[in-house]
Amino acid sequence: MNKVLLIGSGGREHAIAEALKRGSAKIYAVMKHKNPGIARISQDYIIGDENSVSFVKNLDWVKFRKVDFAFIGPETPLINGMADMLEDKGIPVVGPVKDAAIIEGSKEFMRDLMKKHGIEGLIDYYVFTDSSKVEEFLKNYEKPFVVKPVGVTGGKGVRVMGVHFKTREEGIEYAKEVIDKKIGGVGKVIIEEKVEGEEYTLQVFTDGRTVKGMPLVQDFKRAFEGDTGPNTGGMGSYSMENHLLPFLTKEDYTKSMKIVEDIVAAMRREGRIYRGILYGQFMLTAEGPKIIEVNCRFGDPEAMNVLSILKTSLVDIAWGIIEGNIPKPEFYNKATVVKYVVPEGYGTPNPAANQQIKINEEKIKREGALLYYASVNEENGKIFTTTSRSLAVVGVADNLYEAEEIAERALKHITGRVYMRHDIAKREMIERKIERMRKLRGE
Ligand code: AMP
Ligand code: GLY
Repeated sequence: MNKVLLIGSGGREHAIAEALKRGSAKIYAVMKHKNPGIARISQDYIIGDENSVSFVKNLDWVKFRKVDFAFIGPETPLINGMADMLEDKGIPVVGPVKDAAIIEGSKEFMRDLMKKHGIEGLIDYYVFTDSSKVEEFLKNYEKPFVVKPVGVTGGKGVRVMGVHFKTREEGIEYAKEVIDKKIGGVGKVIIEEKVEGEEYTLQVFTDGRTVKGMPLVQDFKRAFEGDTGPNTGGMGSYSMENHLLPFLTKEDYTKSMKIVEDIVAAMRREGRIYRGILYGQFMLTAEGPKIIEVNCRFGDPEAMNVLSILKTSLVDIAWGIIEGNIPKPEFYNKATVVKYVVPEGYGTPNPAANQQIKINEEKIKREGALLYYASVNEENGKIFTTTSRSLAVVGVADNLYEAEEIAERALKHITGRVYMRHDIAKREMIERKIERMRKLRGE
């Protein structure tokens, strides 16, 4: 029986915990707040700063419980070097070391790597550290553009022309602000060409050499229905029974896999062996798949889609990542729909935190849905919201619309001052996407 140290406390980590448990693992969790779902299936857990390398380093019990390996869920501890620290202690880790996690830590590194190694899917980008230079450049740049801090801002620092700002001047103002106020921590800004199309996620398992793909997922980042409102970590997501997406072909999948394989190979050539889960955020454009972002971990909510239908033991895959012989991961041919339940006002500066949520787990189960907890507080058996996403339901079925209906029925058993996007994966929305993509491709 494997003992696993699990770092992280979100919906993603609850899904990882359930999948490890199905592989007969005993879980020892480090969480910044008590996730009731993880707590319930763990052998033991500690509440503390899951992002802090020194906090985890100084945990006595990491050593004396003699865990067989560690699984690090979120990006921050990986970017901070938690994998390096654990490996130094002799604990193998699923998740890249600091030198490899930089693929998410620096958007400049990621784009430079793609450029240097001639990898497909690269979009035009320009990096600046001087606010007068970025101003001069943008005054003469003719295409619509996107402004991104080079450092990590949890997806919230990115501003897209036509979405977050309208005029060139507003874009210039923000680009200068990123440099002058060191938004993202570095005082550097990336200007990218704005690409048009449908976004999707390809997650893979890799030992640094071989790359094994998972079903594609489409995530919904905008806070409100109809894809409006501020960007969030993700309000929900879906995947299809054929593991593709309704607007995307097998050929697009193959091209996306090739890009991810090339990135892993380029990292290896740079002496940065990447072991863990790699997440590619793509835009399917008229010219094919383009990379928007690369992350060093599972997506949240996307982990809940793929892990809910993973047939192969995640413990066996974890050992494959560590030892360099990943078994072919098998996934059920089922569609999945994840819907997050969030506090009212999530995505705005004042979400309704500390509000009780009533969750009828028994009825949710009877609807045939899965439930993953995320950021909530539990006091005397009662569940309360925080400022982050609270919990998610997942419908799994033979086709997308059945899965969507299961998720919707499950949501009826969750009440309180909460909000959820009912439009995610509804037929009208999916049909609009297919139509949009068809037009863009000139079909
Ligand atoms: P990121 O944090 O880089 O994933 O960006 C957040 C969101 O901004 C993405 O999910 C896209 O919707 C949008 N975005 C980022 N970069 C671009 C781009 N170059 N062109 C169009 N949209 C983009
Ligand atoms: N759902 C977006 C992410 O995990 O980065």
